[in-house]
Amino acid sequence: MRFTLTTQNVLSYLAEQKICRSDDLRQDPLDSVESRLGKNFNLLVHLNSTQPPQHLLVKQESRNRSGQVMGDLGREWQLYQQLTQLPEWQILQAWLPEAIHFDADRAILILNYLLDYQDLETFYVETKQFPIEIAAMVGLSLATFHRATWQNSAFLAWFHSLPESSEPAANPAAEFYQEMSELTPELWCKVPREGIQFYRLYQRDSKLAAAIADLGRANRICCLTHHDLKFNNILLAIHPTDPIAGSGVPGLSPLVTTSPLLPPRIRLIDWEKWDWGDPSFDLGTLVAGYLKLWLKSLPLSREIEIETVLQWAGLPLDRLQPSLQALLQAYQQAFPEIGQDGNFLQRVVQQAGLVLCKSIQTRLYYQEPFDNVSIAMLQVGRTLLCQPQSSLPTLFGIVAKED
Ligand SMILES: Nc1ncnc2c1ncn2[C@@H]1O[C@H](COP(=O)(O)OP(=O)(O)O)[C@@H](O)[C@H]1O
Ligand SMILES: [Mg+2]
Repeated sequence: MRFTLTTQNVLSYLAEQKICRSDDLRQDPLDSVESRLGKNFNLLVHLNSTQPPQHLLVKQESRNRSGQVMGDLGREWQLYQQLTQLPEWQILQAWLPEAIHFDADRAILILNYLLDYQDLETFYVETKQFPIEIAAMVGLSLATFHRATWQNSAFLAWFHSLPESSEPAANPAAEFYQEMSELTPELWCKVPREGIQFYRLYQRDSKLAAAIADLGRANRICCLTHHDLKFNNILLAIHPTDPIAGSGVPGLSPLVTTSPLLPPRIRLIDWEKWDWGDPSFDLGTLVAGYLKLWLKSLPLSREIEIETVLQWAGLPLDRLQPSLQALLQAYQQAFPEIGQDGNFLQRVVQQAGLVLCKSIQTRLYYQEPFDNVSIAMLQVGRTLLCQPQSSLPTLFGIVAKED
C-alpha cells in the first residue's frame, strides 16, 4: 500500500494520536474528510463537532515499491522545530504554517488548516489581479527568511549536524545540468513520446547548456532557501470584509501587514525541499511563476505570428510588471545586505529561466504533452539564461549595473 491513511481511517488515526478525543468522533454529520491532492496524498479534515472546531491538513508521503519514503515531510517538520530554537528566528513563526504533529514511522505531518487563507496560485488565477501590496508582502516575507539565516553560524552548525547534510548543499543549476548530461534509456518510459523532442532540442543547443553550467558555477550558498516557491506554496489571508484600496479587488485590505501589531497576511508553506542555498533561486522561482501565468495565457499556435500572439495575451506582461517590480523592491529593501552580491539580479533572471526549463521536464514526468506552452517556456527560459542583462528591463523595468 502506498499510503497509510484514507478518508475512512483518518479520524480514528487522529484519535489514536490524541489529536482529537475519541468521544469527539461520533460520526457527526458536521465532520468531513476530503482528499486534497498535491505532491502528497493530503487529507483535509473538518471536525466541526469538536469544541472548538478543528480544521486539519494531514499530509502523508508516498511510498515506493519497497515501502520507503524520501523523508521530505520529516525534513519539513525538522525545519519548523529548528526555527523555534533561537530568539532571532521567532519572527519567522508568523510567516510559517502551524505544524502540530509528525509521525516519523508513518511519514505523516499534521498542520492546522487555516480557513481564512487561500493559496496565491488560486488567487491570481481566479481574480487575474496582481495587487502590488501582495507582491510586496511576498518579497518582504521571503527576504525575512533569507536575512534571518544569512551566513548564520548557528543555523549552519545545525544544518551540518543533520545526517543527510554530508551531501553538498543545493545547486539546482548544476543538478539539472548533470541530469540532462546523463540521460538514460529509462527516460523514454517516463515521458510521453513527443517529449523526446525537448531533450533533442536541449542537446543541440550548446549555448543553453553552457549558460546552465555557468549558473551552477556562480551558485552562492549563504542562507536558508525554500526551493519550491511556487504560488501554490504561498498562502494569503483573505478577509471578506476588506476592500483593497484602489485595486477594486474585494477581500483584501491595503497593506495591513506593514503594521507590526498585525500578523503577516502571507505564509510560506510546504518547506519539504528547503536547503542551505542561493537566495536567487527562490526569487527566480517566483519570477518564473509570473512568466508561467503569462505563457499559459498566450493563444499559442504555429499558424499565428508571434507579434499577434503577444497582442492577444490574456495576461499581458505589462500587467504583471508592476507586481514583479514591487516584489523585487520589497525584497531588496528588507534584505539590504544582498546588494553586496553584485551578480544577484543577473542570477535571479537566470534562475527564472532555469525554473522554466525544469518545469518542462516536470510536465513531461506528469505525462503532459510537449506542446506549444512547453516550447514557449523553453524559448523564454533560454533567453533569460543566455541574455539575463537584456531581459532585466522586460521583467523589472530596470537595467543592471555592469560588473
Ligand atoms: N495550513 C494550511 N492552511 C490552508 N491551506 C493550506 C495549508 N497548507 C496547505 N494548504 C493548501 O493545500 C495545498 C497543498 O499543501 P502543501 O503543503 O503544499 O502540500 P504538497 O506538498 O502536497 O504540495 C496548498 O497548495 C494549499 O492550497
Ligand atoms: Mg505544495
